Amino acid sequence: MKTALVTGASGGIGLEIARLFAKDGNNLLLISRSEDKLLNIKQEIEQQYSVTVNYLSLDLSKTESVQIIENYVEHNGLHIEYLVNNAGFGDFGRFVERDVQKYHEMIALNIVTVMELTQRYAQKMLKQGHGQILNVASIAALQPVPLMAVYGATKAFVLSFSEAIRQELRNTGVTVTTLLPGPAATNFFNRAEANNVPLFRFMMSPAKVALDGYKAMLKGKRRAIPGFLNKCLAFVVRVLPGGFVLNMAVKLMDK
Ligand SMILES: NC(=O)c1ccc[n+]([C@@H]2O[C@H](COP(=O)([O-])OP(=O)(O)OC[C@H]3O[C@@H](n4cnc5c(N)ncnc54)[C@H](OP(=O)(O)O)[C@@H]3O)[C@@H](O)[C@H]2O)c1
Repeated sequence: MKTALVTGASGGIGLEIARLFAKDGNNLLLISRSEDKLLNIKQEIEQQYSVTVNYLSLDLSKTESVQIIENYVEHNGLHIEYLVNNAGFGDFGRFVERDVQKYHEMIALNIVTVMELTQRYAQKMLKQGHGQILNVASIAALQPVPLMAVYGATKAFVLSFSEAIRQELRNTGVTVTTLLPGPAATNFFNRAEANNVPLFRFMMSPAKVALDGYKAMLKGKRRAIPGFLNKCLAFVVRVLPGGFVLNMAVKLMDK
């Protein structure tokens, strides 16, 4: 049976994506740091659907994590048909005042691990002649984001990288889709210390975001931007002058 490898599956958008895979009869390999949550999710999903849920409790900002996943997949003979690079976090505040160590972890998780997992599993998918990858960026990827400068830049990487390799892989049977959510009601804002930011008042449900991304991935689409407001925002930042967009962004972001 096919297995979907989903990172950041202990809550939020990743958990909802994992549920969609299970509903469609796919086995799961779920990864995040919280072992207790993953165990509960395994029990819940296996009770509800006839699938096997494997999990690994790992800190994906650590370089050795990718090899640990690889060893686990090989050892258990898992057939990874789908890869969802979803784990990620942000940090709100003036760049000069924030903890640089946190930025190192963010870059390791949001960029380096996404790049490495994508390469390893794209290589395997190419060999088997099929496979689908969903990389979770953000609408923050579409313009510079004052007060979340490093986070926005990591997501710009995810978008640029994913669309470039999507093109390299065309006609191979392996597809790469990028999901660009706007604000969604998850733990993201607590971790980022970004509560009460004006831009984040209108939140989508993580289930709806996940469904849009999942459907786009199955169809092999290039991008999914969930929600009408987010699609409008994406259009506006594309057509308005860069300086104006930056001024608007700082107003919408400042508490
Ligand atoms: N919510 C939004 O408004 C929004 C908007 C645009 C894009 N996104 C993106 O959507 C993705 C999912 O975020 P979310 O909103 O669902 O946030 P979330 O509820 O905070 O979920 C983040 C997931 O990533 C896992 N994770 C975090 N750090 C990790 C690490 N070092 N190693 C392994 N797993 C780690 C978390 O699990 P543990 O804590 O158990 O490790 C959790 O499962 C992220 O890439 C985020 O940037 C979110």
